[in-house]
Amino acid sequence: MKIIAIISQKGGAGKTTLALHLAVAAERDNQSTAIIDLDPQASATGWGDSRAAETPAVVSAQASQLQKVLDAARTSGADFVILDTAPHSESAALAAARAADFILIPCRAAILDLRAISDSIDLAKLAQKPAAVVLNAVPPRGSLAQDAEQAVMGYGVPVVPIHIGQRAAFQHALTAGQTAQEYEPGGKAAEEMTQLYQWLVQRV
Ligand SMILES: Nc1ncnc2c1ncn2[C@@H]1O[C@H](COP(=O)(O)OP(=O)(O)O)[C@@H](O)[C@H]1O
Ligand SMILES: [Mg+2]
Repeated sequence: MKIIAIISQKGGAGKTTLALHLAVAAERDNQSTAIIDLDPQASATGWGDSRAAETPAVVSAQASQLQKVLDAARTSGADFVILDTAPHSESAALAAARAADFILIPCRAAILDLRAISDSIDLAKLAQKPAAVVLNAVPPRGSLAQDAEQAVMGYGVPVVPIHIGQRAAFQHALTAGQTAQEYEPGGKAAEEMTQLYQWLVQRV
């Protein structure tokens, strides 16, 4: 069972968006997949409830229950588990990071977001697990992504070579209890998430 933690101490970075899309990508790759929603705001759980499809499984949990929930996932035959975490909760993010095989840190390509990721990078280092920053909501034009890559590299953490664009499909899909792969198959949003998933599975 492979465990991916998605952490970022900043709200709105794209943790939940990534968690849901990677989970659907994993299901499409025939991996029995569960999302463990460690955020008390429970947006992943709400998406799961609003969804017609039964998979991926979405379970809401407190960080203190994480090991128990992971054991249950293992027993029920899960292949792939994604931990969606809350911003502003270092202890929960650290628990997720410690339990993970790989940590993804989403970050918007904007200066305030880039300054704020050092906390998340410190957590990943503390957990001593491989980690990478994934640039999210990258605007279609301009050099923001390149500038952001340079800034992240300064922290000594790799940047995922696939950038996730700023795309309306990500928002529309979630509202409909779907992900971009389902809402707009063949669209760029779907393509980027499939590529991100493929990049990720080569690392775990
Ligand atoms: N790549 C993207 N393109 C467009 N909107 C995005 C993108 N990523 C996230 N969003 C939107 O930004 C908001 C915050 O994203 P979310 O995944 O909930 O962040 P977090 O879980 O880190 O707080 C949501 O409304 C989401 O739809
Ligand atoms: Mg979230």
